Amino acid sequence: MSSLTRRDLLRSGLAISASTLVAGPVRRAHALLTAYPGAASSEAMAAVAPREHLLFDFGWKFFQGHGTDPARDLGFGKSQGDFAKSGEFDFAREKFDDSKWRTLDLPHDWAVELPFVHDDELQSHGYKPLGRSYPETSVGWYRRVFDIPKEDAGRRIAVQFDGAFRDALVFVNGYFIGRNDNGYAPFRFDFTDFLNYGGKNYLVVRMDASFGDGWFYEGAGIYRHVWLMKTDALHLGQWESTVRRAPSSRRTATMDLGTVVRNDSERPEICLVRWQFFDPWGRDVGAAEAAPQTVAAKGSAVFRAGANLAGSPNMPANPDHSDLALWSPETPYLYSAVITVKSGDKSRDAERVTFGLRDIRWDPDHGFFLNGESLKIQGTCNHQDHAGVGAALPDRLQWYRVAVLKEMGSNAVRTSHNMPTPEWVEACDRLGMMMMCETRQMSSNAEGMAQLELMVKRYRNSPSIILWSMGNEEGTLMREPQGEKIIADMVARTHELDPTRPCTAAVNEAYESHFSDGLDVMGFNYNLGVPDEWHKAHPKKPCVGSETAGTFSTRGIYSTDKLRNWLSAYDLNHPEWSELAEEWWTFYGTREWLAGGFAWTGFDYRGEPTPYGWPSINSQFGIVDMCGFPKDNFYYYKAWWGSEPVLHLLPHWNWDQREGEPISVWVHSNLDSVELFLNGKSQGSRKVQPLMHLEWKVKYEPGVLEARGTKDGKIVLTEKRETAGEPASIRLTADRIEIHADGEDVAILRVEVLDKEGRPVPTADTLINFKVTGEGRLIGVGNGDPNCQESDKEPKRSLFNGLAQVIVQATRTPGTINVEAYTEDWPPPKLTAHVTISTKKVNLRPSVE
Ligand code: GAL
Repeated sequence: MSSLTRRDLLRSGLAISASTLVAGPVRRAHALLTAYPGAASSEAMAAVAPREHLLFDFGWKFFQGHGTDPARDLGFGKSQGDFAKSGEFDFAREKFDDSKWRTLDLPHDWAVELPFVHDDELQSHGYKPLGRSYPETSVGWYRRVFDIPKEDAGRRIAVQFDGAFRDALVFVNGYFIGRNDNGYAPFRFDFTDFLNYGGKNYLVVRMDASFGDGWFYEGAGIYRHVWLMKTDALHLGQWESTVRRAPSSRRTATMDLGTVVRNDSERPEICLVRWQFFDPWGRDVGAAEAAPQTVAAKGSAVFRAGANLAGSPNMPANPDHSDLALWSPETPYLYSAVITVKSGDKSRDAERVTFGLRDIRWDPDHGFFLNGESLKIQGTCNHQDHAGVGAALPDRLQWYRVAVLKEMGSNAVRTSHNMPTPEWVEACDRLGMMMMCETRQMSSNAEGMAQLELMVKRYRNSPSIILWSMGNEEGTLMREPQGEKIIADMVARTHELDPTRPCTAAVNEAYESHFSDGLDVMGFNYNLGVPDEWHKAHPKKPCVGSETAGTFSTRGIYSTDKLRNWLSAYDLNHPEWSELAEEWWTFYGTREWLAGGFAWTGFDYRGEPTPYGWPSINSQFGIVDMCGFPKDNFYYYKAWWGSEPVLHLLPHWNWDQREGEPISVWVHSNLDSVELFLNGKSQGSRKVQPLMHLEWKVKYEPGVLEARGTKDGKIVLTEKRETAGEPASIRLTADRIEIHADGEDVAILRVEVLDKEGRPVPTADTLINFKVTGEGRLIGVGNGDPNCQESDKEPKRSLFNGLAQVIVQATRTPGTINVEAYTEDWPPPKLTAHVTISTKKVNLRPSVE
C-alpha cells in the first residue's frame, strides 16, 4: 500500500506551513504532524450551518472550594434546602461576585498544580492530594458569564462537556441543570428553557474529585473541551448518524446510512434528510436522500438511505483493485458526509461526519486482517496524562503522542481504561493509528450501559476503532456467574449500536469460566503460559493480547538502584505478573493465530509507581517517558515493528570513575550483523537473531563507542556514543517554529545541554530556568524523571539524564513567542539559549466570546 504523501495532505487542506522544525529521534513522527489541521478539528468541523457549535473554553473563573466545610464552599450544602426550590443558587446569578476568582482557560486540571503529598493512599493519584481525606483540594468551582442574543429564542441550546473529573453539578442563572458523576463520558444539558435571551447568563460548574473512577492518575476538573451548541428545534440527534460501508461491498463503497431527527417544537414537522459525500480531497463523490417523513411534535424519527460512492481517480492500486481511498495506518484517508435535515427548501440542521473506508476481519487461525491483508497489531496501552499538563492536554499534544508511537512502528493503541478524549481518537483517525476503545465501568447497570452506549455512539464512525473493549481485569465478574450475564448484555447492546466491530475484554484470570464465551475476541492480559492451551480449547475464538509487556525502566539509567527508585533501561525488569519486551513480542509476534497485542504502556503515566512507592510519582512502564522521550526499548520495538533499518546502541558512554570496569553494551537492530568498536578497536561482530537484541561486555575507557550495522554485506548504518564533557551550552529545540495564534496550539520544546564540542551531555541534571514572553505562555514543564517532585507549572526544571520538555501555548494574537532558557546558580559562565516561535493568524474556531 502506498503512503499518504505530503502532496495528498496539502490537497486535502490538512497540511500546515512548511516551517516545521523537527529534531531528535522522533523526526519522522513530527513530520507527520504537519498534517495537523489545527483550527479544523472534527468537533469544529462537525458543525455545518445553520447549527452552531461553539468552543466554550476561554475566559472561565475558577475557585478551589471545599469538600466538607460549606463555609469554604460558597455555602453549598450548609442547610438542607439547596435543591428545595428551583432557581435559588445565587452563585449562578448576576449579583454573585467572582472578581477574586482566578481566570483561566479550559481544558484545566487542578490536580497537576497541587503539591505532592506523602500519603500512600494517594499513590494512584501520583501523590496528589485528592479524595475525601483532602477536602480542601478536592473541590473546584468554575464560572462563566456569557451572552445569548435575542435572535436565539426558539433554537435549542445545550452545553456539552467532552468529559470532566468528576461529579459535576451544573447550574445556570440560579437553576440546577444536571449532574454527571463519572470522569470520562461526555455529558450534555439542554438548557434552552433556562437562558436569558438578549442578555447575560451565568453558568457555574462544581466539580468534586473526592471519589475516583480508576486506579491511575485521573486529574481533577474540566480537563476536556466544553461546547455551546445551538440548533433549530428540528435537529439531528446527538451522535445518531451512522455512515457504514455495507459488508458485501469490498470493491465498491455501498453505504448504509442512518440518522435520527428530533423535533423539539410544539408542532409536527415534515422533513427529509440528505447526505452528501466528499472524498479525502474534497471532491463530491455521491449523495443520497431519505424520503420525507412527519416527525411528531416532541418526537423523533429514524431516517435511512443507501448510496454508492464514486471512486477517486488516480488512486494507487488497492489490494481489492478498487479506486477507493481506503483507510489504513499508512494511508489514513478520511471521507466526510454532510448530513442535512431539510423541510421544504430550508436547511434546518446539518452536521459533518468523517469516516473511513476500510474492512476489518478477526480470524481465529490467522489473526487480524485490514482491507483483506493480514496485519499484526503492534499496539500500546495508554492512560491520558502528559508531563506539565496532567490530564488537560491541548489537542496538539494528542497528535504529538500518537506521532511518537507511530515513529516507533506502532499501529494501534488501547484507551486503557476509559472512554478517550475525542481529539485522541481524531488524531488516530487522521494520523493512522488503530484503536481498541475501552469503556470505564464494566456493568450492565444503568450507569455502565450509559457509558458504553455513549462511547459506541460517539466513535462508531471512526475508522481507527477496530475493537470495543467492555473493560479490564474485572476479577469478580470473571469468576462469578453474574459476569457472564453482564458481559452478554453489554456485548448485545454494542452489537445493536454497531454491528461492524467485535467486542473484547481484558481477561487475566478464571479463563475457564463462561465469562469469555460472550466475547467476540478473547483478550489476554499478561500470563504467557495461558494463550496456547486456551486457543486449543477454544479454536473458534480470535485472540489478542489486550495487555502485555509491563516491562519497566527509567530513561537513561543503566543499573537498577533500589535506593534511588531507578530501574535499568536494558530490557531486564518487570513485575512478577508481566514480561519483558523481547519475551512478549517473541510470543505474540510469532504465532499466526494471535492478532498481536498492546504493550503496557506506550507512555509513562502518573500514579502506579511500581515497583517503588514514594518518592516516585509516576509509573515506569512506559516505552517512552512522561514527556515522550524514548527509553531504549523504544528501539527494540522500532526494529521489529517498523519498516526502516534500525541500529540503536546503549548505554551512553559517560562512566566517570569506572575505567576498566565491564559495561554491558546492547544493540537493538534489524540488520544482518553488527560490529562494535571502542576507540577504533573491534569488540567483535554479532549476527542479529530475529526479535532479539545483541550484547557485548566492554571494559570502559572514555572515548567513542561505535556500532556498525551491516545488511547484505554492506555497512548501512553506524551509531556512536561519545564520552561528553561538562555542559557548555543549552540547546532548545521546538517541534515547530510557527504555530497557530488560536489560544490553543502549542509548541513542544526539547531542552538539552551540550559540551564544548556540541555533544549532548547524557547524564546532565542541570536546573534550567525559562522565560516566556510575547504572544504565548508556558503551560507546563517535565523531564521524564519518575522521581522528580519539582512543579509541573513553574518556569524551571532540572534536566533528567540530559533532557527536559517545555510546553508553550499561543495566545489568540498573532506575533512571536520568545522562549529563553538559562542557568542561574550553576557554574559560570551562565548559559543561555533562546528560540523564537512565530504565531500565525488562522481562522479561529467559532467560540463563545
Ligand atoms: C494491570 C492493569 C493495569 C495496570 C497494570 C500495572 O493488571 O490492567 O491497569 O495496573 O496492571 O502493571
